[in-house]
Amino acid sequence: MNIGYLKVEQSRALIGEVELAGAKNAVLVTIASLLLTSGISVLHNVPVSADVYEMIELLCHLGAVIFFDTEKHQLTVDTTLVHSWTVSNAMMQKTRASFLIMGPLLARFGKVRIGFPGGDAIGKRPVDYHIKNFIKMGVTVYSEDDFLCAEVNDLQSARLVLEYPSVGATENIMMAATRARGTTHIINAACEPEVLDLIAALRKMGARIIVEAPATIIIEGVESLHSIEHTVMVDRLEAGSLLMAAAITGGEVHIPNACAYVLDVFLLKLEEMGHTITVGPNGQGIHLKATRTPQAVSFKTGPYPGFPTDLQAPMMALQCVAQGTSVIEETVFENRFHHAHELVKMSASIKIEQNKAIVTGVDMLHGAEVVASDIRASTALVIAGLVAQGTTTVLGLHHWKRGYEQEEKKLQRLGAVISLHEDDMSALILQQVQDERGKNLDL
Ligand code: UD1
Repeated sequence: MNIGYLKVEQSRALIGEVELAGAKNAVLVTIASLLLTSGISVLHNVPVSADVYEMIELLCHLGAVIFFDTEKHQLTVDTTLVHSWTVSNAMMQKTRASFLIMGPLLARFGKVRIGFPGGDAIGKRPVDYHIKNFIKMGVTVYSEDDFLCAEVNDLQSARLVLEYPSVGATENIMMAATRARGTTHIINAACEPEVLDLIAALRKMGARIIVEAPATIIIEGVESLHSIEHTVMVDRLEAGSLLMAAAITGGEVHIPNACAYVLDVFLLKLEEMGHTITVGPNGQGIHLKATRTPQAVSFKTGPYPGFPTDLQAPMMALQCVAQGTSVIEETVFENRFHHAHELVKMSASIKIEQNKAIVTGVDMLHGAEVVASDIRASTALVIAGLVAQGTTTVLGLHHWKRGYEQEEKKLQRLGAVISLHEDDMSALILQQVQDERGKNLDL
């Protein structure tokens, strides 16, 4: 674990222009998908973030040879010598996205032996949709010595119905289906832009995939897939975070490489708050000019094209200082309100009722020592820190580094007073916080 903290001071209005990095949620699965191919592939626009390094380590462990040119954001992956289908528990648990190697390994070797992501048992959340559908494709799945094992002689096509449009399950079974015998239909599939970016990469490999309304992905299996060159889509969640950082400070920001058409509901809500959003031709480029009197808005998260659950936490930070009351309903993950407790430490007024957070705007937040429980929670706390009186110390730095490439520097360039600290003191502070609470935090 990477121990450290972010220090955020009350900052002036953020103003300027900023460029987005490649999307974390698209690049991780695209790296996994290269296991379907044999040869040298090149990915462009790869963010230099901790999760990308974990995925690189995982593929190297399986036999891939990888070179990451971090200056050019270019990842060269040679999968010719991939020879292994076994991954330890320790390695699997480093990033949840590692489970996305299961489909490609089944397609390539007809077997996999991997640790359980997060230690869940077969059939239980959060990977039951993946497993159930692999079984429908003829895969035998069993557990052995703490490993999840799966075997198949001949992957079969099937009509696969997802009870919920899970992003990961859609991606995993779609990747396996590219090499299955016959045509697979995934009904109620996730259609997030990152899923569509993966489809674009798979098509370049030679996969035959079409997307049909309503939310159906049709994959005709092929004999083999080849290496590719692919530019990863820009990070719409980073776009959302930067727009909100500018909005909360009453600033003005322009993001030329952001695409507005993958953030529609989110942008609608920013406009309802009173912020002015201007979009360039064909949805390319987003400009935000903040209102000085933001109004509270209510919203509910949902699968794409609904309000993204990954923007729920930072949007809650905005509601903490808006005029009026906001009701935020989280429908994707049951327990994604850890950041609310931390925002309350900063003087926010938030009441949690099951999967709803009722936020009443206050005149002023106050800096505090807070703990980020996931990537997006870290964004929320940083954004709140930008307007809080005094200093905010955000512990759980590794979450921030998992998801973003030097985001603190982009914020600094816009005028934010934020610094990243990785010294031993942070370990001490974190230990004190944990001792005080008498429990292990999910860091
Ligand atoms: C992906 C994103 C994550 C985002 C989420 C929802 C990546 C690397 N991560 O996560 O940032 O927040 O989509 O947009 O792309 N579920 C089950 N069983 C399963 C699979 C999922 O019950 O087998 C549940 C989950 O617990 C959750 C819901 O389905 O409640 C949605 O999860 P899912 O869409 O699968 O999220 P991820 O792919 O893990």
